[in-house]
Amino acid sequence: MSEWKRPFLYVVVCAAGIADDVGKLITLAQKQEWDVGVIATPQGLGFIDAPAVEAQTGYPIRSAWRSPGAPRPLPPPDAIAVAPATFNTINKWAAGISDTLALGILNEAYGLGVPTVVLPYLNAAQAAHPAYQQSLERLRGMGVLIGEYEAHRPKAGGGRENFRWEQALELLGLVSR
Ligand SMILES: Cc1cc2nc3c(=O)[nH]c(=O)nc-3n(C[C@H](O)[C@H](O)[C@H](O)COP(=O)(O)O)c2cc1C
Repeated sequence: MSEWKRPFLYVVVCAAGIADDVGKLITLAQKQEWDVGVIATPQGLGFIDAPAVEAQTGYPIRSAWRSPGAPRPLPPPDAIAVAPATFNTINKWAAGISDTLALGILNEAYGLGVPTVVLPYLNAAQAAHPAYQQSLERLRGMGVLIGEYEAHRPKAGGGRENFRWEQALELLGLVSR
């Protein structure tokens, strides 16, 4: 009989002000029997406490591509949560641009059929740009699950208290694994 393996969740962290709360999502996922690995965008790395996140997950944070021939630092994902997701990464992902490791993983996840959820975190001035709504539509059409978030006021920061990290797991619960 084969041994049961905990499913593996990739949490993709972008450079948004609340990224330092990502430990909340890791805790929630681990409580629900997921193992977790974090992929940060290069900018996102500066927004999180990397040693604390690595201690919590037990895996190195990935941000850059590995060298050819080097072993893969993380197992393949059973699901991916992009949280928080920036304006920048959402638009590049929808356009199929892979200029960060995080985007490379997201762009391939579609073809691999990996269930993926995105929790945007951005301000109203960013959300007003027509490219953003088009990007969300395109991602929705690709089967990406999109969390609800009301954009916060420009230049005001904030919105932290309205950001529901648990939505990532709630939405992933809708897909079979
Ligand atoms: C303090 C700070 C907070 C930021 N917060 C956000 C944010 O909440 N949402 C967003 O889309 N961009 C935010 N940005 C801008 C992004 O960091 C910037 O667009 C960056 O290029 C995103 O890179 P990434 O998508 O590769 O992580 C913030 C920048 C700074 C300096």
